[in-house]
Amino acid sequence: MKRTKVTGIDVGTTKVCTVMGDIDEKNNARVMGVGIAPTRGLAKGMVVNLNEARESIRESVRRAERTAGYKVESAYVGVTGRHISSVNNRGAIAIARNDRLVRAEDLKRVMEVARSVEIPRDQKVLHVIPRAYSVDGQGGIKNPVGMHGFRLDVETHIITAAVTSIQNLTKCIRSIGIEIEDLILEPLASAEAVLAPEERLDGVLLADIGGFTTDVAVFKDNAICHTSILPVGGYQISRDISIGLGLTYEAAEDIKKKHGNVTPMGNAEAIEDRTINIGQQAISLNDLGEIIRARVDELIRLIVMELPQKDYARFIPSGLVLTGGGANLGGIIDMARDITRFPVRLGTPVNLPGVSDALCDPAYATSVGLLLWRTRNNNAQTHHAKGGLRGLISPVLRLFR
Ligand SMILES: Nc1ncnc2c1ncn2[C@@H]1O[C@H](COP(=O)(O)OP(=O)(O)OP(=O)(O)O)[C@@H](O)[C@H]1O
Ligand SMILES: [Mg+2]
Repeated sequence: MKRTKVTGIDVGTTKVCTVMGDIDEKNNARVMGVGIAPTRGLAKGMVVNLNEARESIRESVRRAERTAGYKVESAYVGVTGRHISSVNNRGAIAIARNDRLVRAEDLKRVMEVARSVEIPRDQKVLHVIPRAYSVDGQGGIKNPVGMHGFRLDVETHIITAAVTSIQNLTKCIRSIGIEIEDLILEPLASAEAVLAPEERLDGVLLADIGGFTTDVAVFKDNAICHTSILPVGGYQISRDISIGLGLTYEAAEDIKKKHGNVTPMGNAEAIEDRTINIGQQAISLNDLGEIIRARVDELIRLIVMELPQKDYARFIPSGLVLTGGGANLGGIIDMARDITRFPVRLGTPVNLPGVSDALCDPAYATSVGLLLWRTRNNNAQTHHAKGGLRGLISPVLRLFR
């Protein structure tokens, strides 16, 4: 069976992860190489030092190529950072022809109308995603081609990013000889790796807790309805620990990963508070938990505030799915459940065939999603969404070339 090579590069705020693989004609993916390297030259998701950023991407790609045994030629690249904004917009056109038949070119035309929303001059459109169409007022149509009507409306979700940020990222990737297939907003990629189709249909909130950012995406009726990037992540938790307990940032990061837990200790345990020694210092695990809990409590509330509707039980019956390295924090799932009263689960990427053992961690949801992007956007149901996406992204990419 013919297999097509695909690569995803997730340039995160703490790590760059390259996943190389291939997909067969039935859209089954296989992982051939994984390369992880610490991110340098980025601050809050934006490239601040081109050389350093390029070197960490190169290192991650090189490691993946070594396992795969071949070179990366092109890749799907993830985009994140606080420079990203999103808005929902509508567009409407008349079907003036005699037969009143909606054709593919009408979809293109109505999408053009919908995307003509005013955006700041330093921003560029990254994705225009059709959420649903309506023909003569009848809404909720996923693909109106072939239907008859006088008027075609589309509801879209438009994501914009800072021109300079995208230019710098594109430049880094191209300078190591890799062509960009598409730029994908990171939470959209994470969703591909961890969400079930029923969850997207019923309504679900996805939050990817990364190093410096938490990426949020809300899906309802099988369409994306909200995305946002919160400028808070694991870094802020470690910084609180470092300040609160008087440790270096590195020691705080280490103790968080090894001993951090947000489960409140009952009175009995509080009396027997355990301590651990860091150098000369005895650290109380109770104090550590308290510091982390305060920041995580705030973060979970910020995530929930992103929901566009307050009737949560009806709007997102599938609840909250947590991904990103921060989702590994001990007790965070139970804590999120207590605060939100939603169902909450950990989003770990599916175990793909091949050398994917290292990827079975919520921190790699974005990277796996970038690899799967093409398979999930190839099938008939999402085909025209992809048409809209690619058709409109390509001019953006050309602009950055
Ligand atoms: N076991 C753990 N407990 C708590 N935090 C953890 C654990 N493992 C990783 N983290 C935290 O996860 C964060 C990194 O997550 P991730 O790898 O998803 O970030 P990233 O993809 O580089 O960043 P971003 O998605 O914001 O661009 C770090 O702040 C790290 O401290
Ligand atoms: Mg990430």
